[in-house]
Amino acid sequence: MEIPANVSIFETAEQLAVAAAERFVEVAATLDADRDRISVALAGGKTPKRVYELLATDAFKKRIHWPQVYLFFGDERAVPPTHPDSNYHMVDEALISKVPIPARNVHRMIGEGDVKENAQDYENNLRSFFAGLPWPRFDLVLLGMGEDGHTASLFPHSEALHEESRWVVAAKNEQTNQPRLTLTLPVLNHAAQVLFLVTGTEKAQRLAQALRPSVDAELLPVQAVKPVDGKLEWFVDGAAAACL
Ligand code: 6PG
Repeated sequence: MEIPANVSIFETAEQLAVAAAERFVEVAATLDADRDRISVALAGGKTPKRVYELLATDAFKKRIHWPQVYLFFGDERAVPPTHPDSNYHMVDEALISKVPIPARNVHRMIGEGDVKENAQDYENNLRSFFAGLPWPRFDLVLLGMGEDGHTASLFPHSEALHEESRWVVAAKNEQTNQPRLTLTLPVLNHAAQVLFLVTGTEKAQRLAQALRPSVDAELLPVQAVKPVDGKLEWFVDGAAAACL
């Protein structure tokens, strides 16, 4: 298949992670007199962890003015922040605890407690941060892709996929029956930049399907991510690109 222009293939997952960390630095470097803060929605799961670890190294963290960077989450598992499944836990260990970002700049999705209430709380949090906007305008949204084609916690054939007005909703990983919170598609699609990070042979077949022009968002939620006036890119490694 012809590789779409917005897909970058990296030989290794490490090269992909370096490129993604460089993109984060690039976005953070757009701070200027007019733009005094940068908002990034972070992906969970395993793939982005190396990106976060790199951002915490001297080679990257010194190039970022952390007091003006605001971190959010694309989704969260309904577990406490100390739980090994928590996306916050992963990001805190890899990045937050290692860089001089003010605590108030990190907007954790509350996993513990009532998922619906937590979703509403996070939406309120977003609505005050992006006060006055009809939709949040993240400078960068990092996303992964599950083997079933889900992204964030927007799973195939799920109710959350059809949400058109809420910014954050309760969701569920049907395979594991794990309750979750997730940003909704309109939120993802109003970002200035969306960057998918996909690695590993286990993603190869699904990625080839996802990158075909035919769209079946019900089956492949990643295909429903189409920024209305923003940039969409895919960073994939050679293993995930094997079927392209
Ligand atoms: C999560 C993520 C999810 C993830 C994909 C890929 O909370 O799990 O938000 O959407 O990005 O499942 O996960 P891996 O990177 O672990 O393959």
